Amino acid sequence: MRYDTILVFDFGGQYCHLIGRRIREHGVYSEIVPHDIKPGEIRLLSERFNVKGLVFSGGPASVYEQNAPRPDPKILGLGLPVLGLCYGHHLIAQMTGGHVKPARQREYGIAYVTIDKPVGVLKRLSEKERVWMSHGDTVLSISSEYETLAHTENCPVAAFRHKKKLIYGLQWHPEVVHTEKGVQMLRNFVFEVCRCEPNWKMEDIVEKAVGEIKRDVGDGKAIIALSGGIDSSVATVLAAKALDGRLTAVFVDHGFMREKEPEFVRDVFQKFKMKLMLVDARERFLKRLNGVVDPETKRKIIGEEFIRVFEEIAERTGAEYLIQGTIYPDRIESGFRRFSDKIKTHHNVAGLPTGIKFKKIVEPLRDLYKDEVRKVAKMLGLPKEIVFRQPFPGPGLAVRIIGELTREKVDIAKKADKIVREEIEKSGLEENLWQYFAVLTNTKATGVKGDARAYGYVVSLRIVESREAMTANFAKIPHKVLETISTRITNEIPEATRVVYDITHKPPATIEWE
Ligand code: XMP
Repeated sequence: MRYDTILVFDFGGQYCHLIGRRIREHGVYSEIVPHDIKPGEIRLLSERFNVKGLVFSGGPASVYEQNAPRPDPKILGLGLPVLGLCYGHHLIAQMTGGHVKPARQREYGIAYVTIDKPVGVLKRLSEKERVWMSHGDTVLSISSEYETLAHTENCPVAAFRHKKKLIYGLQWHPEVVHTEKGVQMLRNFVFEVCRCEPNWKMEDIVEKAVGEIKRDVGDGKAIIALSGGIDSSVATVLAAKALDGRLTAVFVDHGFMREKEPEFVRDVFQKFKMKLMLVDARERFLKRLNGVVDPETKRKIIGEEFIRVFEEIAERTGAEYLIQGTIYPDRIESGFRRFSDKIKTHHNVAGLPTGIKFKKIVEPLRDLYKDEVRKVAKMLGLPKEIVFRQPFPGPGLAVRIIGELTREKVDIAKKADKIVREEIEKSGLEENLWQYFAVLTNTKATGVKGDARAYGYVVSLRIVESREAMTANFAKIPHKVLETISTRITNEIPEATRVVYDITHKPPATIEWE
């Protein structure tokens, strides 16, 4: 099946992938391509996809910058419909003899645009529309082959089209939700201008990913680090489907996993056609962490040791290809990872660096957002415990046990974590929570247990709401649920005498304690 396809040229804008995603949401396949793709390469792509239109994304550059990214000038002559958005809009105007005013300062936010001619991309819009803009340059005039379709107070040419060809430019961003009729505008381009048929389904992602893995790995062998989180789980199942027994999935138990995690991973994944290796590296990690108290040193040691264990296994399997569950937000520079990275060193299994020279690193989920990955996980029949898992940090409970790591402390942390998960899930609150877990503090406090004095650990509950982990709020959990958790922890864990609730937002705190 050759899907009707829209290619989105990536000029570096932060919403570039959102354009692709919005188009896919309407049943039309969309692929992001580098901005300098050659006409010949588009013709090659056309063997696999029925390319029906091109979108030039926005981007941070000004068309006046010396190294501003530009498309091959022949692209506009391919006879394909083109839609330029923001920077793309400036580019088309400049490339075709219009006049673009260089930026004095960047303008961004909500704007009201007057639609002078509701045709093509602007069909069925009202005279005034609320749109979202973020631009420096402004198109002042266009060549006589073009006509203006809309203007704002500051932009005389906020939208234009070619009088004969299907080439459009919009100063604003229809792909962001703040543009009220943005969906209508993109639909107009895809269905009215490019005449696409919605012949693509989310299910086709599975087929495409499996096809890509097959093509990349050929007859070779591949390996993947399976953490049990949703991304590596989905990548593992796709690779298992593609490689017919030539995949080894490695789950490294560093000892700071949630209770029964290795067993859980084995139960879920043993039915797939691949080699599943559960590596018990608990002793090895604990030994290296002996006496270490500093959180950053702990993180570093765990990250390094993980790589070492994985490399040893990779070498033994003779795999030439590494599969990774990297998803789109892992790759963009914005987002929580960059933000958090300044604060603590993230150990992320999906972004596993390795000293081994693999022929290729294959990333079948690289263009997907988290909720798309969840949909794929559901389609692949992964259990809901995986589909809706809360994020779990690479170093695991090690960053939730303050101070030195000992076997005793790890056992206490595991028990407390299990109680928190059970009670939150029993109460049905988990759907609205980003994360819910226990932290074993390094503080001890006096208590009474069975009429006798007890001196034990203080356990803190960390339960937060968040959308992207950049910021988070402590959750307003009903007291009854907190009470049950507290009672269970002090009853079931003899070494714990006290339970406290962490009422700090992020910022100023972080979600994890270390
Ligand atoms: P913080 O504690 O920085 O955490 O507010 C933000 C989010 O990231 C998770 N986290 C990690 N994820 N490797 C990961 O893959 C790590 O090393 C790591 N450390 C923190 C944390 O659970 C939260 O969701």
